[in-house]
Amino acid sequence: MPKLNVNNKSYLVDAEPDTPLLWVLREELRLTGTKFGCGGGHCGACTVHVNGEAVRSCQLRVDDVYGAYITTIEGLSAGIEHPVQKAWIEHQVPQCGYCHSGQIMQAVSFLRRNPDPSDDEIASAMRGNLCRCMTYTRINKAIRSVVDADIQEV
Ligand code: FES
Ligand code: FES
Repeated sequence: MPKLNVNNKSYLVDAEPDTPLLWVLREELRLTGTKFGCGGGHCGACTVHVNGEAVRSCQLRVDDVYGAYITTIEGLSAGIEHPVQKAWIEHQVPQCGYCHSGQIMQAVSFLRRNPDPSDDEIASAMRGNLCRCMTYTRINKAIRSVVDADIQEV
């Protein structure tokens, strides 16, 4: 049975090779912090990291990520203590909350690549993650606060 490396744990996976990673995370591993939005790669609710890069887990076949390092929102920090998570709380970003594990995973991956972005770069990096509650201003503000705090590592 193939193994999946998620949040630094190894899981034996019993799924058809073409099963979307999102389904395996949620239904088999019960890591339900990652959300199903559109299922078509358009909304970003299902964003996780694969080898540190933000990806849409609804668009990846599980057999394409065997051997890769996958991080979900549950693995980002032990107790909601990641600087981006703390900024989300401080700025009271979520409304219904549904999109925000994807938003946070997208933001973290972006800030690791670009620790000192302009406001335009932040808006552009986050544009593909949709929020039906229109929390975009607070998302951008929270990311800006992490950048301005000059945290060495996110
Ligand atoms: S659920 Fe994957 S992009 Fe919308
Ligand atoms: S907070 Fe409701 S969808 Fe984003």
